[in-house]
Amino acid sequence: MRHYTHIADLGVAGVERVLARALEWKRAAPGRHLDGRVLGMVFFNPSLRTRASFETAMLRGGGNAVVLDVGAGVWKLEYRDGAVMDGDRAEHVREAVPVLGRYCDALAVRTFAALEDFDTDNADPVMRAFRSYTSVPLVSMESAREHPCQGLADMLSVHEHAGATRGVPVTLTWAPHIKPLPHAVPNSFLLTAAAAGCEVRIAHPPGFELHRSVVAEAEALAAASGAKLSFTHDQDAALAESQAVYAKAWGPSAQNASVSAHPDWMLTRERLDRLAPEAAFLHCLPLRRNVEVHDSVLDHPLSKVVGNAGNRFDVQRVLLDMMLNGG
Ligand code: CP
Repeated sequence: MRHYTHIADLGVAGVERVLARALEWKRAAPGRHLDGRVLGMVFFNPSLRTRASFETAMLRGGGNAVVLDVGAGVWKLEYRDGAVMDGDRAEHVREAVPVLGRYCDALAVRTFAALEDFDTDNADPVMRAFRSYTSVPLVSMESAREHPCQGLADMLSVHEHAGATRGVPVTLTWAPHIKPLPHAVPNSFLLTAAAAGCEVRIAHPPGFELHRSVVAEAEALAAASGAKLSFTHDQDAALAESQAVYAKAWGPSAQNASVSAHPDWMLTRERLDRLAPEAAFLHCLPLRRNVEVHDSVLDHPLSKVVGNAGNRFDVQRVLLDMMLNGG
């Protein structure tokens, strides 16, 4: 039984395989490869792209999906071992997860970081609980630590744009926001780009460092793939001659850092001139226009944000095939 909840479940070879097959299936669709299969999708948090892309991947493959919104027509779920359940969480995942396994061939879960404690979020408690109790394959639709399907879609976009991922300079730049956001997307961009062999540049203001365990994992992937990693507080230097720039807001790792203290980090049209000619601008979406990224970037021909969202479908149908068919 294969679970795909973290990039570590794929490693360098697995990331390469998903990207290669996604490119192949974009040229020739696989047909009803998921015939009669049912995916149970459990959402603790909202979604547009993840929900629609997983559901359509199942439907177009000949399967089906059951969508459960925790706390909205579905019991609120407890995940902590030993919890005294005298609050509003009426069911424990110890029962709920194996029960869903009696109806579904695979499960998918979305659960955001609580943003109360950096180390606790990095330990991914809800995803780990689902992983412990599931009797069927499990895939992440984003958890506190990682959003692996997003990272795979991002690398598929880089590959389509640059013709490769190995050695391609890609920049992840921090973006301002009105509130702290989870680290799952930047973590996954770093981990997947490291596995894919890119020249990865991470730029952020002081106080917004990614978790040391994510950086260490990315360094190990880079050693295996030949990727190069660099970290800087200088956005302009990180953008120079990069072939893809990915902007993303994430919350502080230092208590005295504020997400609204660096409005000058918002990507503007002028900053695109620092990139290599014909570079791509990417973002996971959703985003707040003119807070994180200026209109003049999003509406520029270099912006590939819609195509990047489309690539979620393409990488996820490969992962679903690997989970359900051992492909
Ligand atoms: N990028 C992404 O995961 O989008 P949603 O939150 O809309 O699913």
